[in-house]
Amino acid sequence: MLPTTDGARHDADVPLSAGGGLRGASPALETPAGLRAKDLLSIDDLSPDEILLILDTAEAMKEVGTRTIKKVPTLRGKTVVNLFFEASTRTRTSFEIAEKRLSADTLNVSAAGSSVAKGESLADTVLNLEAMAPDMVVVRHASAGAGHLAARLCRARVINAGDGMHEHPTQALLDALTIRERKGRFGGLKVSIIGDLLHSRVLRSNVLLLRALGAEVCACGPATLMLSDMARLGVRATTSVDEAVEDADVIMLLRIQLERMRGYFFPSLREYFQIFGMTAERLRGAKPDVIIMHPGPMNRGVEIASEVADGPYSVILEQVANGVAVRMAVLYLLAGAQED
Ligand code: CP
Repeated sequence: MLPTTDGARHDADVPLSAGGGLRGASPALETPAGLRAKDLLSIDDLSPDEILLILDTAEAMKEVGTRTIKKVPTLRGKTVVNLFFEASTRTRTSFEIAEKRLSADTLNVSAAGSSVAKGESLADTVLNLEAMAPDMVVVRHASAGAGHLAARLCRARVINAGDGMHEHPTQALLDALTIRERKGRFGGLKVSIIGDLLHSRVLRSNVLLLRALGAEVCACGPATLMLSDMARLGVRATTSVDEAVEDADVIMLLRIQLERMRGYFFPSLREYFQIFGMTAERLRGAKPDVIIMHPGPMNRGVEIASEVADGPYSVILEQVANGVAVRMAVLYLLAGAQED
């Protein structure tokens, strides 16, 4: 069993923790509680209470990373396949570290070096992996819905580690953990998300999560990179960076995803930086305790200046650190808790 972190919480407009068996005096994982869905494909798969349960569990999991021997037996005997068809540094590494810290047997499959390079379809790859009876499959793919396809074909639990322009639920969860640690609340926060909105799975997952927990979300970018359904998502859209920055509690910059662009969405990267790039000068309109977030990988000098990325308001590496704990929590709650 894992000892929990101290149970202290801040007052908030909305509940900050799920309550139940994961907080307070009881060791964090003594009262197992799982997630309702078999898979984690979208933030929409989670109720607000389940989101908070994951964040609470992640807080407990962080303690494991401070031990001399960073390992617990929670997922001993479970096999997890990390199926990454798209480049990744943070997500792939943190899933693998999370799996190892929970004592799962892990293996990594990438497009290069697998039979995908010989033309095998995603469905056939998944069916062949499923035949070897993994317990969980973590999927990253350039196509929206890849995780849903894998989940339909697999008895194994599937975690979406980013599917094209659709969703990246564990990124939004680690972002939420970082915001909760820094701000102590979600209700009433102004979270401004600035950058390439159109191509961003991080935006979609964050909007679903932040709206579910009561934050106000403002999305800012060039008109050519806006989503058409911002209002339906409950998001205020603007092309003015000054408006987005004004009184923001949290500013999340999004990468310009040139690899997903077909055509020209703005004249040049230099012009993009001049109009939308986050600089120390532009930050002056934000709240004095604003935090700067970026899911990575960053394009320095495009969506964010180095002085901001490395500056005093940046929590970008805290996000990365929280990625391990959040993925441990998701793996545990999907695979471990339901079978304890
Ligand atoms: N944030 C994120 O998904 O980063 P990677 O592409 O490096 O995994």
